[in-house]
Amino acid sequence: MPVIADRCPAVRTTIVDMNAARIAAWNSERLPVYEPGLEEVVRRVRGRNLSFSTDVAGAIKRADLIFVCVNTPTKTYGLGAGRAADLSYIESVARMIAEHADTPKIIIEKSTIPVRTAESISAILAANKHGLRFQVLSNPEFLAEGTAIHDLENPDRVLIGGERTPEGEAAMKVLAGVYASWVPRDRIITTSLWSSELSKLVANAFLAQRIASINTISAVCEATGADVDEVAHVIGRDSRIGPKFLKASVGFGGSCFQKDILNLVYLCEHFGLTEVGAYWESVVRMNDHQKRRFTERMVKELFNTVAGKRIAILGFAFKKNTNDTRESAAIAVCRDLLAEHATLAVYDPQVAADDIRRDLQGAADDRLVIARDAYEACAGAHGVAILTEWDEFKSLDFARILKAMPKPASIFDGRNILDLAKLRAMGFQAFGIGK
Ligand SMILES: NC(=O)c1ccc[n+]([C@@H]2O[C@H](COP(=O)([O-])OP(=O)(O)OC[C@H]3O[C@@H](n4cnc5c(N)ncnc54)[C@H](O)[C@@H]3O)[C@@H](O)[C@H]2O)c1
Repeated sequence: MPVIADRCPAVRTTIVDMNAARIAAWNSERLPVYEPGLEEVVRRVRGRNLSFSTDVAGAIKRADLIFVCVNTPTKTYGLGAGRAADLSYIESVARMIAEHADTPKIIIEKSTIPVRTAESISAILAANKHGLRFQVLSNPEFLAEGTAIHDLENPDRVLIGGERTPEGEAAMKVLAGVYASWVPRDRIITTSLWSSELSKLVANAFLAQRIASINTISAVCEATGADVDEVAHVIGRDSRIGPKFLKASVGFGGSCFQKDILNLVYLCEHFGLTEVGAYWESVVRMNDHQKRRFTERMVKELFNTVAGKRIAILGFAFKKNTNDTRESAAIAVCRDLLAEHATLAVYDPQVAADDIRRDLQGAADDRLVIARDAYEACAGAHGVAILTEWDEFKSLDFARILKAMPKPASIFDGRNILDLAKLRAMGFQAFGIGK
């Protein structure tokens, strides 16, 4: 919404959330989300044509277009638990719109949702007391956290799905008109509702599958002595494969990949496509395996025990340039190390200490230290694990770090961002992924 407000000065945007603390943070000097470039955009448009409020009913009444962006987490209870999307937030928003709207509106699904959710939303909206007719569009979001502002300002494509009726086509035209203020027309793709909803799940499934695939090869490299970065470079030179998203790592994280694949798996199973579902589920299984494999290697290289040893964890966010830790590989690795009775000293440039403690709930206070910088985390540590590819980790003074560590000192680069040969020459035992 800040980017829409920035690019379309004539459009008035209101962001409403029932979480008052979040809205207060958005209205404050310290935004609740860290994203490069976001603060500048928000400062430009806040109070101009963008406002943040908890008045959900009032905003519904005033709006012509309503973007539904609520969370759609994996269900943790009942039918489809652990796979299906929890649509209770989507449904409650649809009910609120039906209750408070007194003019027709275009409702836009921005949340990632299972195929045919628009049908349920339409049914709830149709039951409104004024007999109003609403158009429901699907407009999935393809931005990546960490590069969100850049992705929104220069999208590869904007996808709009709608009903292939005159009313549906007209609604798509209105939404396309908003994006056309800054997105070239040939990048605005329109499809049927169901194709649009499914495309988002498939896009994330393909991206996650690519990471899982190169990660399986990292295991083969470690077993055979090949180097996964070299293999990735070679296969990426094939124009049919391409070089992007081929970086082996400790595993993918984030709120979307796993959730969206499980959603696709549930959809497949629902339609009796058992083998297809199993194929996609294996991507999530491989990712879990990769995180476990990383910790097992750490324990093995630290002489088969980390009990009572201090381990430095550099990076806790699921990727660089975000403070988001949802499904971060760091959480799984830290939990496994804590289960092995290690003491962890965690440092992340953007993640708040309280968030790290919340994610590692149950860790005794004396076994979990939150460090103010990388040097403090590494002092006295037998091993250092790089779990997020923050740029600042590449330029650390490793000679200083080595001096402050008991010997032999080990580094486990879970993101393959360091020069292992150089570290070895300095006296570290250095391990990478697929190296
Ligand atoms: N985070 C991403 O990078 C990303 C990218 C593409 C798509 N998506 C999709 O966007 C959706 C939202 O993701 P997110 O990461 O922003 O989730 P989030 O949990 O950070 O934010 C969702 C917000 O919705 C609010 N909310 C829930 N129910 C509400 C209601 N009835 N009325 C008012 N507010 C309500 C919550 O308080 C919360 O602040 C998900 O479906 C996700 O899959 C996210």
